[in-house]
Formats: sequence, structure tokens, C-alpha cells
Amino acid sequence: MLDSKKYFPTLANNPDLAYFDSAASTQTHEAVLKAMNNYYCNFRSNTNRGEYDISERTSNALDIAKQQVADLVNVSSDSIMFTSGTTQGLNMIARWMKDKKRIIVTEAEHNANIVPWLTQGKSSADESIIVMPINDFDGLINLNELETILEKTSDGWQDTMVSFCATSNVTGVTQPWQDIATLSHKYGATVCIDFCQTIAHHEIDLKENQIEFAVFSAHKMYGPTGIGVLYSSFDFNDLIPLYYGGGAVESVTFDSVILKQGVNKHCPGTPDIANIIGFGVACEMIKYVGYSLIKLQELDVLKHLLSYGIDVLPNCRVFPANGFEDSVISIIPITGHSSDIGQLMAHTGVAVRTGKVCAHPLVDRISGSKGIIRISFAPYNTEEDCEKLCRELAIALVKVK
Ligand code: ALA
Repeated sequence: MLDSKKYFPTLANNPDLAYFDSAASTQTHEAVLKAMNNYYCNFRSNTNRGEYDISERTSNALDIAKQQVADLVNVSSDSIMFTSGTTQGLNMIARWMKDKKRIIVTEAEHNANIVPWLTQGKSSADESIIVMPINDFDGLINLNELETILEKTSDGWQDTMVSFCATSNVTGVTQPWQDIATLSHKYGATVCIDFCQTIAHHEIDLKENQIEFAVFSAHKMYGPTGIGVLYSSFDFNDLIPLYYGGGAVESVTFDSVILKQGVNKHCPGTPDIANIIGFGVACEMIKYVGYSLIKLQELDVLKHLLSYGIDVLPNCRVFPANGFEDSVISIIPITGHSSDIGQLMAHTGVAVRTGKVCAHPLVDRISGSKGIIRISFAPYNTEEDCEKLCRELAIALVKVK
């Protein structure tokens, strides 16, 4: 279901494209597109809860999709709400948690888990943001260092937030997020985890790990763009709505409003119906295929890349040093700029991402002004893709010398 280009229309329709930018966006599966199209062609309507047939179908389809998303991460469907994606989710969480005295993040954060905190007045200059460095060998943070920081700063559960990406979009390395959460809880901190780079690759059990906030996006897991999810173990009644409008209210006068209860009070306006339906199908499909098979299929792609010499390319180094274990391989050119290499690659029909990949602090540290060349793959990448990528990348790296 995931290991052939024939299931992914953009790949099937561009047979010469070697697509190695799945960390930016995985391709959308045809089953997802079919479900979305089915909605538009057969029961396109708003969700008005049973006033007429097709609207009832829409309401039911939304309920099913929400359950499918919740099931993938083992939580109840009333503990999640849909967002436009991980970025919106992280912005909402930063606004809700703005009174935390300090936010502990890792050095590998995407800008989306940095800027929302800056806009709430946090900064590393006054230690209201504390940054955990990552190791240049394996890309992991040091749990002993984290514990030392937590010990020093544990002056009440309401004061510290540990907010981090489980998997880096620069390295593809997944932190021991369960251990980080357990350690953070030991010192009373609130935990928020960005799983957007994790969800396509590793099983996530939010119930077992009792995370307070979690977010991810459909477009990085074979689903549609523009839809994501925010999970919270907090009672949604205790969180202030950040948006208001119809749909989220019981009654309104020109003087007062009574909001709905629970997660519904946070969801005004018409939901993104087709995308939610597609998101549900993507979750169901991942569950059906299973993470162990996905891992094996990714390993096959990695083996092909290694057999064509991804680890012996000229004029570059890989980051982190032990960087051939995940579905992301990031390369830093010794001479030349990553975007020049990206352009040379694009002319040959190879899609990779270059530059700072929206993770500016880490990429600035490891590459200076060069940026990285990020190769990110998925089960649908073929041996031919791998051969082409390695060949063209070797040529481009030598050309920019
Ligand atoms: N955040 C996405 C990436 O890593 C777009 O490329």
C-alpha cells in the first residue's frame, strides 16, 4: 500500500521524478484522494447533524475520521481537535501556556516551536527559554543534563513547560520522548510534543505516556495538506478559546454568549470536512500497514541508498556523524552552497530540500551559511530513485567545488 509509486498519483504521473522530500511532505495516497473526492462528488454538504440525508452522511463521516485519528495514537476522540497543522497547534499551545516561567526546548526545534514562544515574550537571553543541545554524533539530547536543569528549575508544576520535537526535521533522529516525558513529569513540568516528523515512522501511544499536549500534521503521513491535530489531556473546558464564531456556541445575544462544552467550544466555523475525511483514511491506512512493515520498507530504501554510495559522497559531510539510521539523511557541502546543489539536482529530476529547512538555529550552527541538503525518503522510493539521487548528488557536489 505504501511501497509502490502506483498508489501515489503525483509519483505515478511524474515517472521520472525521484522524490526525496518526504520530510517536507509525504505524497498523498490515492485512497485518501478517493475518500475526499467521494465526499465532494456524493455527499458534499455542511455538517448540520441530520437535517437532511447527505448532511447526516457528512456528520457521520467526520465522526468516523476523528475516531480514526484518535485511534492511531490511542486516545479518546474527545481529547483531540483539528487544526490547520502542527504550526497552528503549537501557536495555540504557546498562547495557552504563556504564563509558564520557562520553556525547555531542544536545539533541534523547527521554527514553529520557537517563534510562538518568542511572541509570548520568552527568550533564551533571560532563560525563559532553555535550550538542550544535541550531540553531533547521534543527534540526541543528554537526559542527565535535562534532569539537572529540571532539578534546578522545579519550583512548581505550573512553572515549567518541556516542549520539543520528538523527531528532528533536520536529522530524522527521534529523541527518547517517552523518557523525556517521564523525567519532565517527575519534576512537575508540563509536556508538549511535536510529532509531525514522527507519526509516519513510529508508533505513538499518547495514553500510555500521559503527554499533556501533542500535535502532528496529515501531510507528513500520506494525507492531505492543511489539516492537523492537537491533542490535550487537559480538560478543554479549562483552556480559553482562541477563536470565536458560529458552531462553537450554544446561544448568542448582542450582550452575551454561551459556549459549547469540551473540545467543541474551540471549533467555530465550518470544519475542513474533506481534509478531515482524508486525514482519517491516512491514519487508518498506517494502522493497517503497521509501523513494523513501514520500518522494513524504509530500511530497504536505505539499503539501496547505501549500496549506491550515499555514505561516500565527495566534498561533503553528513550530520549527525552517525546519520544513516533514519529516513532523513542531511549532508553539508564542504565547498559551495546547498541551494546551488539543490538547483543542479532539480534540473535532473531529483527533488531534495536545501537551506535551513525551517530549523534555523540548528542549521546555522552545523552549516554556517551553507545550509543542508536534506534527503528524506519513504517506502515508495525505488532502487532507480536511489541510484539517480546518488549519481546526481555526487556530480553536483563536485561541480560546486
Ligand atoms: N517543515 C517542513 C520541512 O521540514 C516543511 O521541510
